Amino acid sequence: MTDTTVDRIEQIGDDFHSDPHAYYRRWRGNGPVQHVRGTRGATFWVIIGYAEARAALTDPRLRKGIAGIAEILRAHGQALFEDAGALNAHMLNSDPPDHTRLRKLVNRAFTPRHVAAMRPRIEEITATLLDDMAGHEQVDLLAAFANPLPTTVICELLGVPLADRDDFQGWTKVLIGVSGGPEDAPAAAAAMTGYLRGLIAAKRATPAEDLLSGLVHAVDEGDSLTENELVSMSFLLLLAGHETTVNLIGNGMYRLLQNPAQHRALLADPTAIPAAVEEFLRYDGPVGWATLRYTAEAVRIGETDIPAGELVYVALSAANRDPARYPNPDHLDLTADPTGHLGFGHGLHFCVGAPLARLEATTAFTALLSRFPHLRLADETFTPHWQTNVVLRGLDRLPIRLQP
Ligand code: HEM
Repeated sequence: MTDTTVDRIEQIGDDFHSDPHAYYRRWRGNGPVQHVRGTRGATFWVIIGYAEARAALTDPRLRKGIAGIAEILRAHGQALFEDAGALNAHMLNSDPPDHTRLRKLVNRAFTPRHVAAMRPRIEEITATLLDDMAGHEQVDLLAAFANPLPTTVICELLGVPLADRDDFQGWTKVLIGVSGGPEDAPAAAAAMTGYLRGLIAAKRATPAEDLLSGLVHAVDEGDSLTENELVSMSFLLLLAGHETTVNLIGNGMYRLLQNPAQHRALLADPTAIPAAVEEFLRYDGPVGWATLRYTAEAVRIGETDIPAGELVYVALSAANRDPARYPNPDHLDLTADPTGHLGFGHGLHFCVGAPLARLEATTAFTALLSRFPHLRLADETFTPHWQTNVVLRGLDRLPIRLQP
């Protein structure tokens, strides 16, 4: 057994995103916690063991508060651009008691009962998108379906005009580092902030039956939500609502098409689709690494001592393929039981949108498989190009052929 207390720093290369699991497999022999240097030179800790990741996600010594993270980043010479302040005051960047107060405001909108009521509309949007696809022999599944489905749903839920989609998706992609460079981020943050402030002002003037109007109302009723928290909450919900589910559909369909026997089995038994969605989340879920946290005090995890004031990534994708938890973890098995996977996180910050994401993905796979039973990759030699992003894992395109 290697002594992991010896501080050995693993370097991440430019090839990381094409196959993160190759790195994880190499690292595993060295213990469940790795000290890593990223491609831009910063060092941080990465938890790759399942048991350790699950424990870390409920460990109050590992915090998410944005002020703490910003201070450490500054010490590494990596400023968190100040202009994004109005977008950063959200629950995923907060610890209790702020987190508790912020999350309570939206919990209700995402209960299984509330989400179930959205099913008919989600089925309708799905059917319309598939009708549009049906006229083509070949489409990019991401552009034609996997992106517009969750985007339309979250726009309707929040009360954001779908017509503004190109704008807010463009800014979001810069802010999460999928397009542009760090130099583009301040302008994107300013544009996004201005856009959301305008939208919130419009909801205040003319409330509608949507979640943003409800949140504005909560503020106006004296609930302790500041204007920045309101803007940040809107930003988080809009971002999380469309940048994640797209990749559950995209990654899941790609993995299914790579496994024809399992594809056939699912076509024969669509009742297995909800369980398949869980296995897609385990095997290649939309949130790769991050879940960034920092140590508020020194923490010992496994055999590793992490000092106070360090950045820690809980690598959900690595935990979900820990052989100590899942036998044969690098094999997609839609009949296996992936219970307990960490694809939606765990603990206080467990994804509030999980019931919605599950419903959208189940609806999407059910409709896609029944409508296009011959669906396959447009090109058997297709080489996937994965976005180079530590937070989100997704393809940039997925060309598929719809007809035999
Ligand atoms: C939190 C994954 C869809 C809203 C999280 C976290 C994960 C996650 C892993 C926890 C991050 C951490 O602990 O650091 C996913 C995946 C999705 C998805 C894989 C789709 C397949 C959605 C949707 C929404 C949403 C559709 C909203 C409409 C949120 C919010 C949080 C969150 C608001 C923060 C919760 C908190 O801090 O308490 N999500 N998510 N997510 N997600 Fe999702």
